Amino acid sequence: MNATQEQLKLKLAQALVAAFGADYTGVDPILVTASNPKFGDFQANVALSLSKKLGMQPRAIASAIVEKLDISDICEPPEIAGPGFINLKLQTSYLEAQLNAIKADSRLGVPTAKNPQKEIVDFSSPNIAKEMHVGHLRSTIIGDCIARILEFRGHDVLRLNHVGDWGTQFGMLITYLREVYPAALTTADALDIGDLVSFYRQAKQRFDADADFQETARQEVVRLQAGAEDTLHAWKLLCEQSRKEFQIIYDLLDIKLIERGESFYNSFLPAVVEDLETAGLVEENQGAKCVFLDGFTNREGEPLPLIVQKSDGGYNYATTDLAALRYRIQEDQAKRIIYVTDEGQANHFSQFLQVAKKANWIPDDVKIVHVPFGLVLGEDGKKFKTRSGDTVRLRDLLDEAVSRTRADLEARLKEEGREETEEFINNVANVVGISAVKYADLSQNRTSNYVFSYDKMLSLKGNTAPYMIYAYVRTQGISREGNIDFANLGDNAKIILREDAEFTLAKHLLQLDEVIGEVEQDLLPNRLCDYLYNLSDKFNKFYENCPVLKSEEPVRTSRLMLCDLTARTLKLGLDMLGIKVLERM
Ligand code: ARG
Repeated sequence: MNATQEQLKLKLAQALVAAFGADYTGVDPILVTASNPKFGDFQANVALSLSKKLGMQPRAIASAIVEKLDISDICEPPEIAGPGFINLKLQTSYLEAQLNAIKADSRLGVPTAKNPQKEIVDFSSPNIAKEMHVGHLRSTIIGDCIARILEFRGHDVLRLNHVGDWGTQFGMLITYLREVYPAALTTADALDIGDLVSFYRQAKQRFDADADFQETARQEVVRLQAGAEDTLHAWKLLCEQSRKEFQIIYDLLDIKLIERGESFYNSFLPAVVEDLETAGLVEENQGAKCVFLDGFTNREGEPLPLIVQKSDGGYNYATTDLAALRYRIQEDQAKRIIYVTDEGQANHFSQFLQVAKKANWIPDDVKIVHVPFGLVLGEDGKKFKTRSGDTVRLRDLLDEAVSRTRADLEARLKEEGREETEEFINNVANVVGISAVKYADLSQNRTSNYVFSYDKMLSLKGNTAPYMIYAYVRTQGISREGNIDFANLGDNAKIILREDAEFTLAKHLLQLDEVIGEVEQDLLPNRLCDYLYNLSDKFNKFYENCPVLKSEEPVRTSRLMLCDLTARTLKLGLDMLGIKVLERM
């Protein structure tokens, strides 16, 4: 709901009380977008819902409300329609004033949050010694977008990278490397990430097949947790190696993150278990410490335990998340904690959160939200793989997007007989290629699976990044062609609305505020993508129907200002998606 709707809602509520008395305080006037734009912009449906209670015909109720309704500065005189809808149409002068106000505002009418708060976005979070995969790519892109929107709204956002840098995998890996390549455990840069990943795979095979190896690996984990110097040193080297590789991806995607991995919470793990024990939630089961869960059962229908400490004394992924949750609430003072991971982890989140709730660790004013997303599929509809069946390296995937963009661009330049510098071509290819990957992800409802298709995401047609960036280039180009100085037009230059297409565009421009508010709540970036895509569509209709440069003043300047406002809205919206714009492409 945007500021205008808020205001209308308030006025309607006041009219309701004025008409029927204080008993009706707080009754929702049921203000919604008009079911048909022919009838106006909004309709209030409250009269129909009060008919029984008041013992009156809805139309009579509607006219009693309208009689007390004071909105003459916002709307045309209200009309009562059908069984008793109150139809409201915004006044042209009101719309014009709103537009003239946002055009002077760098935030384009989007206010900062009334109650800015500490918000944590836990995203990306790949695992050390393993390759970052497309699931992490989705988490990175979606998490970054959510963080950007919250930051824009003025919240204090902590972007956390909960990397998997602790646990059994290191025992395995270090034990294996001691055997086959000890130098990797003492010398920096002895391994590259490709080696690391294949050593990891081999170590895992050994671990699964060899009981003695398993035992040594377990002891190595214990040594790591106890802080044994050589093991700790080896661990640091391995982390450093992975971190470098992750950073390449973050740089390519322009992502800022603070690393606070699982190891950070190591010293808090014993207290988590102790406190759960004190709360009487822990039961021993075959030597493991468990909290039994409601609503989760095994195949035999018995309640499922969440193991918070294994029989060998080690801790699990969930224990670490419990420690992290407490830390974020107590130390970081977060009011909302958002976790961006694949849907496959939904059970993990509801399980450890159930335990945290049972232990009373989540204050009423703290919200915990799991933001799940679906799978990335190949064009064959199966899990996304390379032709040879391997997992796709993210670096290769991004490089491919950039090189394909470059090839498309070079073909287009040739066709148009244009000469551009190498620098220009590189920049366009990078911006468009990376943006295409981001936008293809963000424009889908995140809960659904999506098919990764270079052809589709790089197309200049449809709901794609190249199309959106081109829409910006075009709107910006038109306002530039007008050759007026938008910053210094003075108070006389005003947006004036006459044609239908101008109204449609204007109303859409005024909805940015509402869309941002929605995404802030629902954490669905695709809504912002849809908004921007519709904006470019409405702009195109406006541009087809309303001559800009050839119009007489004051219409010419007004229309140029609409172009400029559209360009700025596209730029701001794309920026919140983590997408850069270009002035030419
Ligand atoms: N490292 C995990 C993975 O790769 C994701 C961690 C998500 N964050 C969390 N607090 N559990 O699947």
